[in-house]
Amino acid sequence: MNSKIKYWLSIFAVSCLLCGCSRAQKPGAEKSSRPEDKKVLIVYLSRTKNTKAVAEMIHRHIGGKLVELELKNPYPAHYQTTVDQVARENASGFLPPLKTFIDSIETYDMVFIGFPTWGMQLPPPFKSFLTQYDLRGKTIIPFNTHAGYGVGSGFETIKQLCPNSKMLKGFSTEGGKERDGILYVMQGSKATQVESSVKQWLKEIGIIK
Ligand SMILES: Cc1cc2nc3c(=O)[nH]c(=O)nc-3n(C[C@H](O)[C@H](O)[C@H](O)COP(=O)(O)O)c2cc1C
Repeated sequence: MNSKIKYWLSIFAVSCLLCGCSRAQKPGAEKSSRPEDKKVLIVYLSRTKNTKAVAEMIHRHIGGKLVELELKNPYPAHYQTTVDQVARENASGFLPPLKTFIDSIETYDMVFIGFPTWGMQLPPPFKSFLTQYDLRGKTIIPFNTHAGYGVGSGFETIKQLCPNSKMLKGFSTEGGKERDGILYVMQGSKATQVESSVKQWLKEIGIIK
């Protein structure tokens, strides 16, 4: 091989190596300790759209991927039938199969989990979600709406199902009262008040400035 060809072959080899290295470094380079560089997933369950409204408020402030948790077999439209079904599922530990699939969950740093209180517990679909997906090493930030009785054991159950995640202080606010025929309430002055509380909470836990 003459020396000119050898020279150009070595230049080619070095540039291939450099190219490979920069590609290999990219995933690490995307990660940063700065909160604004964290990859955010916001997953929520919502029947009458109040929790969805809170999820959208969070999304407006911090962006990220917003995903509704849907079931392969949705709950009945009838309220009391759903309450009874949920009570049976909670008692038996049944984990309803999910229709929603989260692609590449390992790439997210922060996972917001939004749910309505059901039977003073975390709804079964989120028990399925947290059993199905491994959130170890991620920061979990829960939020909730309820009918006036609070979050119940929801936040504690998340902590128990994700012992290897860091969980930040959750947010909980009153939503609808489907039992009394009051469905969607996140509008007008109520929406303004909840949005301001959401903002204050995000500041308090250090997500926004
Ligand atoms: C099956 C079921 C069970 C519920 N159980 C409770 C409860 O135990 N405590 C409570 O405060 N609200 C309860 N609620 C009311 C919801 O938590 C409340 O209306 C919430 O805002 C609904 O959120 P969504 O509009 O996102 O579905 C229940 C609602 C349903 C459908």
